[in-house]
Amino acid sequence: MEKRKSVRTYEVTPIAPAAHASIMEYLAAEENLRGPFGGVPGIEWIWAKNGAGEGKGMKLGAYGIIVNPQAYLVGSVRNEKLALLEFGYTFQKLILHATGLGLGTCWIGGTFNRKSFARELELAEGEIIPCITPLGYAREKQRLLDTTMRYVVKADNKKPWKDLFCDSRFGQPLSPEAAGELAVPLEMVRIGPSASNKQPWRLVMSPDRRQVHFYLLHTPNYSGNKLGFQMQRIDIGIAACNFELACRELGIAGAWTMNDPGIEADSPHLEYMLSYTLS
Ligand SMILES: Cc1cc2nc3c(=O)[nH]c(=O)nc-3n(C[C@H](O)[C@H](O)[C@H](O)COP(=O)(O)O)c2cc1C
Repeated sequence: MEKRKSVRTYEVTPIAPAAHASIMEYLAAEENLRGPFGGVPGIEWIWAKNGAGEGKGMKLGAYGIIVNPQAYLVGSVRNEKLALLEFGYTFQKLILHATGLGLGTCWIGGTFNRKSFARELELAEGEIIPCITPLGYAREKQRLLDTTMRYVVKADNKKPWKDLFCDSRFGQPLSPEAAGELAVPLEMVRIGPSASNKQPWRLVMSPDRRQVHFYLLHTPNYSGNKLGFQMQRIDIGIAACNFELACRELGIAGAWTMNDPGIEADSPHLEYMLSYTLS
């Protein structure tokens, strides 16, 4: 999670066959595409034109933002609240798997040509392609555009703890010390990717330290929502993925629940999403 960052410029080096095989194996195991929220997203590997390997390859528009992608992972899911959460969760897990293989990735939900990808997939009624990621090896020396893009979305500018995490109620910041064993899982939420780097997660830890409630602070008039689906719900799925994987690695047992604790919101744009309950 710490190693992953958005890569928009790739080397022309083809993806190693072993890395391709590992991802295909990952995608073939259904449990990898099934998260805790229901609705199994479809994810496909598509070679980029002139990329390595067989397959027809395609010229897929990422509006010049992505250079030398060798392949893409393309996701599809029903356009529903929980399905979008699930999509964020499963696609992030896949992105972390790819990161572990040494591949660069970049969540892309806005700046790509949906139609060109939709032609390659068989979308069922009500399904959308919320996001894709290019794959390849990161070019060390970044292009000016890459640097500019990171600057524009303030990608290296992640909000501090006090802006994201609250203790018992909104308006009362949670310190890493007070978070105890959950400090690392929370930190993994903080450093995660989000659409336009809005970091719309707001988390409240319960007074007994047994629960963490996840809220979505909707960005008013967010451009990403004008694509016909709630892009920021995906960000919550990403946060849930990072949080749960960190808990698991630390041996902290728990489960997801959806039961609004009724904590008074300090913004009309806050929406309760889910809670992690320690067992
Ligand atoms: C749901 C989602 C959609 C995104 N859409 C785009 C996009 O359309 N174009 C783009 O260049 N980056 C996109 N990003 C990448 C974010 O800008 C990036 O994650 C954020 O700036 C933080 O930087 P980092 O990933 O390097 O930590 C998206 C990220 C997420 C999670």
